[in-house]
Amino acid sequence: MEHVNRVALIGTGAVGSSYAFALLNQGVADELVMIDLNKEKSEGDVMDLNHGLAFAPFNKKIWFGDYSDCKQADIVVITAGANQKPGETRIDLLEKNTDIFKSIVGSVMKSGFDGIFIVATNPVDLLTYMTWKFSGLPVHRVIGSGTILDTARLKYMLSEYFSIDSKNVHAYIVGEHGDSELPVWSHATVAGKSIYERMEDHPDRYNEGDLEDIFQQVRDAAYAIIDRKGATHYGIAMGLVRLTKAILHNENSVLTVSSYVDGYYDVEGLYIGVPAIVNRKGIAEVIELNLDRKEKKQFLESADVLKRALASIQS
Ligand code: 2OP
Repeated sequence: MEHVNRVALIGTGAVGSSYAFALLNQGVADELVMIDLNKEKSEGDVMDLNHGLAFAPFNKKIWFGDYSDCKQADIVVITAGANQKPGETRIDLLEKNTDIFKSIVGSVMKSGFDGIFIVATNPVDLLTYMTWKFSGLPVHRVIGSGTILDTARLKYMLSEYFSIDSKNVHAYIVGEHGDSELPVWSHATVAGKSIYERMEDHPDRYNEGDLEDIFQQVRDAAYAIIDRKGATHYGIAMGLVRLTKAILHNENSVLTVSSYVDGYYDVEGLYIGVPAIVNRKGIAEVIELNLDRKEKKQFLESADVLKRALASIQS
């Protein structure tokens, strides 16, 4: 019998329901079970999504379920938890969401789940760590969305700046998904040339100083969106579908996700956003970039921010 791919989604708020919608539209996974404390809202979502099935590229079974449905899941995606209010940082949510995660991950594991966790709730690097701890699964089977969205934001903004398709822009944001993240300019390429070379092609048009403005817009994008509409959800939802697809289709795609690193630039025992090869097994390999001196310093500072937050909750 052919394997049926099942995704269990925990949390059907703005991010979860946008993820479900994107999953359906892109025809990823055969089955989607939606789980949430708010039964009415989730049942409504399930009805609404099922009514769109006739327009979707593939058929899919979608239902409102409970934790026992996680047993057969290939992937459990967690988007549940409190989200940032205007002015709050992601790390401000740590205590509240750690308690929620203890209960969620415990319930998922009780079902007999033996697949891959994808974590999207903030602070995502720290809650991915908690999911790993609470689940007892191997590190490569617990993945956080990390800086997947920040990297996408950077590619979009560079694509606008250079007027070049974002598919021909390669640049990573690494570190904490949050205020201490950093761009890896030393490895950024545009149309196959280093970003600096491309700038030298047209000194009248481009200016290195603009890169700092672009990065600041990327770093602060969530604040800008939250100020305007209260939450971000479409971008992260599409990033989560990209990650789901890389796993289910065994793509070996390189994505900047929150991965367990131990000895990466002297960072030990932490989940943090780095480029990693993602396939059916989860994280197949973390790519160690040859960061320049400034980037390495910033990366270690970002890891320190996460380490300190972890220590505060564990003490
Ligand atoms: C984002 O970056 C809030 O983490 C969320 O859109």
